[in-house]
Amino acid sequence: MQVIKTAAKMKEASTHLKKSQKSVGYVPTMGYLHEGHLSLVEKAKRENDIVVMSIFVNPLQFGPGEDFDSYPRDVNRDIQLAEEAGVELLFLPSAAEMYRENHAVSVSVNGRTDVLCGRTRPGHFDGVATVLTKLFSIIAPDKAYFGMKDAQQVAVVDALIHDFFMDVELVASKTIREKDGLAKSSRNINLSPIERDQAPYIYQSLQAGAAMIEQGERDPKAVISAVLAHLEAAGGNVEYVECYSYPELKKQDVLSGKIIIAAAVKYSKARLIDNIVLTIS
Ligand code: PAF
Repeated sequence: MQVIKTAAKMKEASTHLKKSQKSVGYVPTMGYLHEGHLSLVEKAKRENDIVVMSIFVNPLQFGPGEDFDSYPRDVNRDIQLAEEAGVELLFLPSAAEMYRENHAVSVSVNGRTDVLCGRTRPGHFDGVATVLTKLFSIIAPDKAYFGMKDAQQVAVVDALIHDFFMDVELVASKTIREKDGLAKSSRNINLSPIERDQAPYIYQSLQAGAAMIEQGERDPKAVISAVLAHLEAAGGNVEYVECYSYPELKKQDVLSGKIIIAAAVKYSKARLIDNIVLTIS
């Protein structure tokens, strides 16, 4: 595996791959790799000639008071895991490389962000869209792989690619979970032992909501109330439970089509999100 630290070198490598007609699958990450990331690499390996991963904890997508400083980092372990997983090229830029002096242009997302995490994390998706625009431009992948745990991020990336006519295919993969149902996340390491025991109730609560829909409930308010009642067992502070069309993220009076039920819970040192996307036929 080759580790590349500058945009110029990475661009050189991707131009070379394009010339040799190799298809490139790209897995963007902020590191502290877990099985969720590695399953994206596995899928990317099956579907492409070459897999590129990036590790960059993007300061632009963290708001004031958010966990940029305490976001878990372990680059040496990540390099080893990426290599073992079969990543061919690892792009590992510094913040100074990604945001050069006099950085003047950023992307502003104005749809799909007035709900869920977008409401409580102003500027977050602008930061995600800006860094991904840079990364897509440097790496020029054929396909880019994202986990559905961050379903709103997937919806925003879908809009980014579509609105900017980007030549990259978005591949969204199902959330990878611990045995007890907790969605794998780099942030789980920041849960206390008690919180770790409580956190699986987030997914169980969402499942209770999904089961109601499967049994015929079509009122989003009824589903949300039921999820909230179950969420009491999850401890923490519930930031939201919401239900929308997916990926448009529009409110519905009567649930229909493809929908998402999503929740965010704040613990002492970690804020966790999870969701279920289902199609009502
Ligand atoms: O999901 C993440 O880890 C990040 O938001 C991403 C897509 C790598 C952009 O910084």
